[in-house]
Amino acid sequence: MKNEAAFVRTLKPISSKRSVLVNIGGKEYIDFSSNDYLGLSQHPEMIEAAVNAAKKYGTGSGGSRLLSGDSELFHELEDSVARFKGKGSSLVFNSGYQANIGIISSLLSKEDTVFFDKLCHASIVDGVMLSGARFHRFRHNDAGHLEELLKKEKARKPLIITESVFSMDGDIASLKDLVSVKNKYSATLMADEAHATGIFGKNGAGVVEELGLSDEIELIMGTFSKSLGSCGAYIACSEKVKQYLVNACRSFIYSTALPPSVVACNLKSIELVKKEPQRRKKLLELSAYFIGLLKKNGIDTPSRSQIVPVIAGENPAAISLSDKLKANGFWSLPIRYPTVPKGEARVRFSLNSGHTEEMINKIVECLGT
Ligand SMILES: Cc1ncc(COP(=O)(O)O)c(C=O)c1O
Repeated sequence: MKNEAAFVRTLKPISSKRSVLVNIGGKEYIDFSSNDYLGLSQHPEMIEAAVNAAKKYGTGSGGSRLLSGDSELFHELEDSVARFKGKGSSLVFNSGYQANIGIISSLLSKEDTVFFDKLCHASIVDGVMLSGARFHRFRHNDAGHLEELLKKEKARKPLIITESVFSMDGDIASLKDLVSVKNKYSATLMADEAHATGIFGKNGAGVVEELGLSDEIELIMGTFSKSLGSCGAYIACSEKVKQYLVNACRSFIYSTALPPSVVACNLKSIELVKKEPQRRKKLLELSAYFIGLLKKNGIDTPSRSQIVPVIAGENPAAISLSDKLKANGFWSLPIRYPTVPKGEARVRFSLNSGHTEEMINKIVECLGT
């Protein structure tokens, strides 16, 4: 492990939380690093759902879904996810990381070939590595490069993987282009909607919904851990794929199921996303305001979403930018190499429907000085 200061990772415990205000080390900050984009983790109906489920079923699930960890709540949740995402079926996982490594490694073997975007999340990369499949990384958001690779490789039934909203750049995949390429090469497409779910689309189901592509994209993965304010993940897919995963996916089979309180929250979160569209509307308005203000001040960002990175350069530059923001009361953390490419260390601002334009004005002021 590298131990130079610019690489060391440390834990920073939060002692209390109130909307977007967090207390860390005895000081209050405005949190610009949380993925709880809609503030649902503090929604009274979420808390009530968790408490009621714990009272009814207890605090732990007691085992894997295939032993005694299953409950009716999981089946209700999987029906709800399938409807929300416009797919025939769905399967719930304990986390997005477990979902990606498990799904990818069980669907692929050494005989298969997979193509994924260069900026895909570590959980996708790890799933591919675990599968042992041949892989190619296409240039970020470049369907033309993907097609070149597919043409050269001539793989049988290839899998293509992308995120829909990219977790580090906040830009959005050209899903329509990827769908036409995948159709041309009889491939399967998997979209990770971890950062899009709850925010994009008429019902908040994600970018796939917004673009009307749920019938075209075979595997739609997403998490409950970000704008849904909880924990866990899912794949929305056909019933056939679900049954295959129940029988073959090691991260599903060999892990204790989520506790009932979390499953109840996950169910409630989908209901709230549909019922309270004003949260995602405000979030997207604030995001556009922030991006516009940065541009006006000559600060570039690739963002087209609620994730707004400001690239600082090498790791020490991102650390000192984050420290400056911290001194001004903003909790906005540096994302460094090797999490992002070398020379592209950044402060990644995660907007929240609880933020205000005044908070954003102050941040931009701080970035400009
Ligand atoms: C694109 C993407 N996929 C998957 C994950 C993993 O999700 P989880 O945090 O629920 O394990 C993340 C979160 O870090 C992510 O950004």
